Amino acid sequence: MKRGIDDLALFGGPAAFPEPLYVGRPSTGDRSRFLERLNRALDDMWLTNGTLVREFEDRVAETAGVRNCVATCNATAALQLLYLAAGLSGEVVMPSMTYVATAHAARMAGLTPVFRDIDPATGCLDPREAEAAVTPRTAGVVGVHLWGRPAPVAELEEIGARHGLRVLFDAAHALGCTYRGRRVGGFGDAEVFSFHATKVVNSFEGGAVVTDDDGLAGHLRSLRTFGSGPGGRIERAGTNAKMTEAAAAMGLTSLEAFGEVVPHNRENHALYRAELRGVDGISIVPFDEAETSNHQYVIARIDEAGAGLHRDLLMRVLKAENVVAQRYFSPACHQVEPYRSERPVELPHTERLAEQVLALPTGPAVDAADVRRICEIVRCATASGRQVTDRERRSADPVPEVSVRR
Ligand SMILES: Cc1ncc(COP(=O)(O)O)c(C=O)c1O
Repeated sequence: MKRGIDDLALFGGPAAFPEPLYVGRPSTGDRSRFLERLNRALDDMWLTNGTLVREFEDRVAETAGVRNCVATCNATAALQLLYLAAGLSGEVVMPSMTYVATAHAARMAGLTPVFRDIDPATGCLDPREAEAAVTPRTAGVVGVHLWGRPAPVAELEEIGARHGLRVLFDAAHALGCTYRGRRVGGFGDAEVFSFHATKVVNSFEGGAVVTDDDGLAGHLRSLRTFGSGPGGRIERAGTNAKMTEAAAAMGLTSLEAFGEVVPHNRENHALYRAELRGVDGISIVPFDEAETSNHQYVIARIDEAGAGLHRDLLMRVLKAENVVAQRYFSPACHQVEPYRSERPVELPHTERLAEQVLALPTGPAVDAADVRRICEIVRCATASGRQVTDRERRSADPVPEVSVRR
């Protein structure tokens, strides 16, 4: 029990958890199914360019309700190839409140990311901001379905149509989520999923572009495989961004577990909300009940004025208890290099959110008892937030570190 601040591990109390709890422990599904698939690949001596990747692509396309899925070694490569295949040059407008991969992939494809502010109510790109950034140099707009909450799809598609721009979506967080009742995957020109180990469906590392545009999908397949076309003939410059058979074996197995993981995540999210309701300065970002979500992230906002302690200090309090929370996403893209130096911009809503945001552990490895204990720590720390802040300031002791895995 954490009754007062002396019980907090940061100040010498016993840690609440013997082992670290993470955001996004991998959902690996049924191990025997995975090994069966891996054994098949090994028996066939077929480790890449094989049937497992094709099967995974079919399952992902089915899940997203789209015609084409092009699986890749990770989502960053998928984004980069998409920017190239979409034929973009010049500037792309995007939110800064995203993982830096959204921007870096554009940059690596020779584009200039132009960051615009979010709608503070959703955390996603504000369409009015996006449209105000359109110039003759603009080639595309990128929406990000932040934490699985859909970007303003209709508005961004309208902006794209009005100005003749490509509209792309970074759907790294949004497999299985809906926008106005339609599954994420079929919006804009194309969308990109991530199957990184921490995602709700993982293939160790992996990503995919999904699109209903057959021509774009063909171009992406070619770029992914050294620029090859029918019969392996080289038709253009390309790279090697293929997904391996082993990765697809995990992807298929993890996808089979998806149906069980989502309700578990939903329950965790509801419990966090119930346990932290009414706690000053702490709010759990809600999901839109009218939409379907994968609930893979539990996002807390910590308002220092109400909680008495800053988000970073709460993160350290939790870390000392072996609860490894993550700042998704802080700093925001425009606050890191090279963007910070090259194109300084002020984005007040993004900066405020980046200052407050904290993703709390959830997923199949986190159960209701874990959530209750985590919330007990948060309640204890915030009940005496100012004392925690003062004591931490005075303390000469180094904070116990817990290794962070990604
Ligand atoms: C919003 C967003 N976009 C892109 C990526 C990149 O994904 P990957 O790690 O598969 O390259 C991530 C990864 O976490 C992400 O959160």
